[in-house]
Amino acid sequence: MMAKKPKNSRAATKTPLATTEPKTRNKIREENDAADEFARLRVKTKHKIIQGDSSKMARLNSGSVHLIITSPPYYNAKSYSQWDDLGQYLDDMSSVVSECFRVLADGRKFCLNISDLPEKGESGVRWIPLGPKLLEICLTAGFELVDRIFWFKTPLKGFQYGSLPYPPSPLINDSVEYIYILRKPGKPDYRYASNKFKRCSRMRREEYVEYTKQVWSMRRVQIKDNIGGHIAPFPDELPSRCIKLYSFVGDVILDPFGGRGTTVKSAAKLKRNSVMYEKNGDFMDYVKDYVKLDQTTIGGGTPNMSFEMRRR
Ligand SMILES: C[S@@+](CC[C@H](N)C(=O)[O-])C[C@H]1O[C@@H](n2cnc3c(N)ncnc32)[C@H](O)[C@@H]1O
Repeated sequence: MMAKKPKNSRAATKTPLATTEPKTRNKIREENDAADEFARLRVKTKHKIIQGDSSKMARLNSGSVHLIITSPPYYNAKSYSQWDDLGQYLDDMSSVVSECFRVLADGRKFCLNISDLPEKGESGVRWIPLGPKLLEICLTAGFELVDRIFWFKTPLKGFQYGSLPYPPSPLINDSVEYIYILRKPGKPDYRYASNKFKRCSRMRREEYVEYTKQVWSMRRVQIKDNIGGHIAPFPDELPSRCIKLYSFVGDVILDPFGGRGTTVKSAAKLKRNSVMYEKNGDFMDYVKDYVKLDQTTIGGGTPNMSFEMRRR
């Protein structure tokens, strides 16, 4: 007979004390206590879903955000993003990045997920290095690059024929995206976070070890799991890992290119506040579906969460 799953999913991840060396028992006990405290913690979080252009985030005060996680449009990769040329796209991205710099608190992180983009050149396929170009924009805005994570997207999709089975023109199977970890210079001030919230933000040791690896192997969102959904979402695990690594319970998380609301959903689950901007009003229905909002949740919410949806 299958063992009954404990009600609380964090409780299910506890490490059994009996199977470990005595010297690690205390650490495990502390870890389990923190997981219990997080599960029991009652904190009311607020989530603002704003339909508007994030190049002007007038509703956010300077330095009011503790962490930014986002994935911008990949230039003209999808039907929603139509720019006349790359320069215009980069100018638009630059406006948003400057706003991100303004609203982020000193010393806090900006996690930027982006991929390069293939295009047809006169001599064959070539890559537009969107990652390095956006990184340059971030550095120009004043951010510092503190880490580079590579998202290895599983499952791997077949292989590229190229000149199979001969040299000299094989094509490398594209399966990696960048997650640049940037920082706004300055001394972070963590005094606002209570000891309780800090304890509740503790990660399990295995999580910490896994998330601090430079390659994150995570499932891409597959079409079959996203029927009728937003065209380019990242998986929940991407913002969840960033939230756990770079923020405390109760912090304010921003996604300036919110899409279906993946970051908002992860922030709510992890007891952080959130704000997202999404320019395209048609995508607001995806957000409602994905974050599971109905008319009673918007504006009302549950005792633990309140959601607000508005046009800028
Ligand atoms: C790659 S998608 C983000 C998907 C998101 N990470 C998710 O999981 O759903 C980029 C989104 O940015 C939106 N967007 C593009 N320019 C914008 C802007 N200036 N302000 C707000 N949203 C914008 C697009 O409409 C698109 O939904």
